[in-house]
Amino acid sequence: MADLTLMEKIVSLAKRRGFVYPGSEIYGGLAGTYDYGLLGVLLQENIKQIWWRMFIDEREDMYSVDAAILMNPKVWEASGHVAGFADPIEGGKMFNVMFTTSVGAGEEATPTYLRPETAGGIFANFKNVLDSMHPALPFGIGQIGKAFRNEIAPRDFLFRMREFKQMEVEYFVKESEWKKAFEEWRALMHRYAEAIGLAKGTVHELEVPPQERAHYSKRTIDFEFDYPFGRKELWGLAYRGDFDLAAHTQASGVDLSVLDEETNERFIPHVIEPSLGVDRTILAILVSAYREDTMGDEARVYLALDPKVAPIKAMVSPLLKNKPELVAKAKEVRIELQKVHPWIAWDDNGNIGKRYRRQDEIGTPFCITIDFDTLGEKPELKDTVTLRHRDTGTQERLTVLEAAKRIREAIR
Ligand code: GAP
Repeated sequence: MADLTLMEKIVSLAKRRGFVYPGSEIYGGLAGTYDYGLLGVLLQENIKQIWWRMFIDEREDMYSVDAAILMNPKVWEASGHVAGFADPIEGGKMFNVMFTTSVGAGEEATPTYLRPETAGGIFANFKNVLDSMHPALPFGIGQIGKAFRNEIAPRDFLFRMREFKQMEVEYFVKESEWKKAFEEWRALMHRYAEAIGLAKGTVHELEVPPQERAHYSKRTIDFEFDYPFGRKELWGLAYRGDFDLAAHTQASGVDLSVLDEETNERFIPHVIEPSLGVDRTILAILVSAYREDTMGDEARVYLALDPKVAPIKAMVSPLLKNKPELVAKAKEVRIELQKVHPWIAWDDNGNIGKRYRRQDEIGTPFCITIDFDTLGEKPELKDTVTLRHRDTGTQERLTVLEAAKRIREAIR
């Protein structure tokens, strides 16, 4: 049976602690939209950065664009989205899920769409990238950005939204090399799942049968995740053949073929597309990390986030708030740790146990406490702090430099 209460707990924690708020909430909301708060923004930045590093930086063959969301509607006619990007409503009637809008005023106004996938901006810039960057095949163009779909039934929090974000790569290859590239990106997607800390065994591949694939796809593997509401799509990997570049060549009249240096013949590259939703990734991370246990006879909730994705890397705290020497030393320690990472929190409210619980709930991996021994009450402990580990609650005594090293190593 679906564990609905877990979803409710995650949605509530996300709102209460500033990860994700319902969109337009003071006006009763707008279905399918969510707004990220500070912690959600930081978590999102971390997963985007790790994607960027693994999918773009660490490769030798990647380029990027940051394309406009508004495009000439001819893009979406050529790509097949105007004719085919539809879901059935009543009695088999089809409803196109692209959002329409209009550009310009009065009689000049031209109807167009909000892009339903970031991919469109990549294909439309294929020639620009060729002409300006002179890449040799195989190469890819990656992009992170917003996409919009007027989903008939938005639901399950960040799972099915009407405005969301995608991290997409279009990787261009010779037709004969598509299988090799497909396998490469498939493996990289699994490595990414591991890097961001998705629980082992919760990501499953599904070979999508031909009749269920998108209109452009010759092969699709869905990466499914075990959400509390069932096993559903997290990301997709598609072989789009030469569908897009051929369609845009035909519709625009601009030749999007490349020259094969060996045979001296021109051909339209084929495309492998790993496509990852940012918001679904965040949902999967929250589901993976959510934990309840008891610690010191007290029930607690914590997020076992990988330190690399955790929004706050550590919290620094003076044991007592009303001792100026402790506060001053703790501030010094915080500044030292902020050389490792800017998001080192400060908390001197309430007792130390409460402070730890507050950080546990947002997934902060380390809490560092400054006490009288730090000040040298026991001379042999001068300049040492206690470092508490989130998952186990265990504490160790180490120097500030060692604490900094722990954080640096954990978030690398
Ligand atoms: N360019 C390929 C493409 O757009 P897709 O399977 O329709 O393929 C790719 O979308 C990914 O975008 C999905 O695997 C999912 O992570 C995310 N996504 C799609 N629709 C979404 C929605 N309504 N809400 C949140 N994420 C969505």
